[in-house]
Amino acid sequence: MSSEPDVEVVTDVVYPTALEALRTRRSGHNFDPTTDIDDKTLRGLVEDATLAPSSYNLQPWEFVAVQDDDRLDEIVELAYGQQHVKEAGTAILVVGHTAPETADRVFEEWVEGDRMDEETAAQTKEQTLGMYADDRMGRDYGIRNASLAAQNLLLSAHARGLTATPMIGFDAEGIAEFLGLPDDKIPVVLIAVGPSGGEEPERLPRRDVDEVLHREEY
Ligand SMILES: Cc1cc2nc3c(=O)[nH]c(=O)nc-3n(C[C@H](O)[C@H](O)[C@H](O)COP(=O)(O)O)c2cc1C
Repeated sequence: MSSEPDVEVVTDVVYPTALEALRTRRSGHNFDPTTDIDDKTLRGLVEDATLAPSSYNLQPWEFVAVQDDDRLDEIVELAYGQQHVKEAGTAILVVGHTAPETADRVFEEWVEGDRMDEETAAQTKEQTLGMYADDRMGRDYGIRNASLAAQNLLLSAHARGLTATPMIGFDAEGIAEFLGLPDDKIPVVLIAVGPSGGEEPERLPRRDVDEVLHREEY
């Protein structure tokens, strides 16, 4: 592989396979309030998030990490008192772009990588910019792409033995203002992440495959 993920390999830790990780991942609420993740881990989690797929590889996401205790108190308040954010020690807001602002650079990369000729890249870029100029489409664009990055981050945290919880129980306007998001960026999901504080309750039941799988049409 050309780009190895930034995981500190600890010899007595066995990292789970992808299937094990997704089958055992939980939204944990039991964090160890006495320890936080280090900077290398934070960067590794974000790097793993950026490996998520995105429309035309436009990567319309950003991540705002909050670790300062006083600022975490403010986040708890904006998250309607969800204290586990503070106990986790790190809150990461996954932010979505509502417009393809990376288009110039990314479509150039398609051409440089011999994946598209210049004319196709120019046309595709114009179509993409046009499509997401619509408010609703722009919002969908941000949420769809950034949600996939968020799931990567959750799985990465779990695979590294950390606890992580995705959250949308927060005042979206308030958090956007508190963290200084520009108008064209939206808060998609807040992730509380940190070292585990121990056991979590049993997972609640999932709907059966027969209930959710449709074949050929809904
Ligand atoms: C979009 C979304 C919003 C969520 N919001 C919150 C939240 O605000 N606070 C929280 O503690 N958990 C939140 N969760 C976690 C869910 O409660 C959890 O994923 C669900 O109960 C299933 O449990 P599991 O993730 O452990 O399998 C959220 C999950 C998702 C996907």
